[in-house]
Amino acid sequence: MLLSVENLQVQFGRLQALAGVSFSVNRGEVLGLVGESGSGKSLSAMAVMGLLPLSGGRVSGGSIHFDGTDLGSLSPKAYRKIRGGKVALVTQNPMTSLDPVVRVGQQIDQAALLHLPVDRTEAKARTLALMDRLRIPNAEMVYTLYPHQLSGGLRQRIVIAMALAGEPDLLIADEPTTALDVTVQAQIIQLLIELVQERDLGLVLITHDMGVVARTCDRVAVMYCGRIVETGPVEAIFASPRHPYTRALIGCIPRHDMAPGDLVGIPGVVPSVAAMPSGCRFHPRCAQAVSRCFTEVPPLSAAGDNHASACFLTDQPGEAS
Ligand SMILES: Nc1ncnc2c1ncn2[C@@H]1O[C@H](COP(=O)(O)OP(=O)(O)OP(=O)(O)O)[C@@H](O)[C@H]1O
Ligand SMILES: [Mg+2]
Repeated sequence: MLLSVENLQVQFGRLQALAGVSFSVNRGEVLGLVGESGSGKSLSAMAVMGLLPLSGGRVSGGSIHFDGTDLGSLSPKAYRKIRGGKVALVTQNPMTSLDPVVRVGQQIDQAALLHLPVDRTEAKARTLALMDRLRIPNAEMVYTLYPHQLSGGLRQRIVIAMALAGEPDLLIADEPTTALDVTVQAQIIQLLIELVQERDLGLVLITHDMGVVARTCDRVAVMYCGRIVETGPVEAIFASPRHPYTRALIGCIPRHDMAPGDLVGIPGVVPSVAAMPSGCRFHPRCAQAVSRCFTEVPPLSAAGDNHASACFLTDQPGEAS
């Protein structure tokens, strides 16, 4: 495994935001990390990047292994070397990753200079090649522009170029296209998938859109309230989703026969970190909940080949569906 996250727990003071999260991704593989807002997707990404201290959070349990290295044992200096190098993050808002007063081409150069044994000339040549690969038109000209002179789609491509400049093995893309219009979204996702194949990258694609997952991912980890509730190959998850929450998320994918405005959501709201329900955290919103769901935490248990679900009704799909 390229990345292996085991039973990860994250706390802010006494509040536990991640309560045992496990997922893994191999080279050449796309893992979809999916769940509603507040389920802990970005926190999982921040934990892998070693960036939790910036927001006052800390890893209070579990482990993160990257390419055999226990990231939790790294010094801040060693972590800085990996971050943006072997492990890179692309976030939702490209403006937060870009320096407004530095030409975008130079920002990509800097990422290469920081992590690779290259000189300025070589860095620039690599930047232009990367911009071409990312289908940025007129790369030589765009190289000289500042972030505010670019469209949202181009800016996101620049941020992806910065992430790739350090030759990562693992890319974490946290809702990389939410700020973009639908056509551009599809192009960027397509590009990321191509890069996974070309460079044998592992990609963790964070999204709340099961439609994107169905089209692009190899495997899925479904998160709810700081826990993974179901994980498995994308075909299995869509053909026989076992957790009621997964089924609800799949039910939220807009269909062609829907009228505009017919968008469906899951009834109820995601609880806050400060007031987590006992037992299965989904029970207050679950139509199938039985009495033990109120008191006992259902463990992730096998539901098929590489497929696991944390629901007491997993073994009784007839009853749960
Ligand atoms: N700095 C913080 N202090 C306290 N709680 C936090 C902090 N950052 C995140 N949390 C809590 O952790 C939970 C998970 O947050 P996270 O940002 O990982 O959600 P997410 O799944 O990425 O949601 P979204 O889809 O909205 O991006 C949330 O309930 C949030 O309130
Ligand atoms: Mg997030």
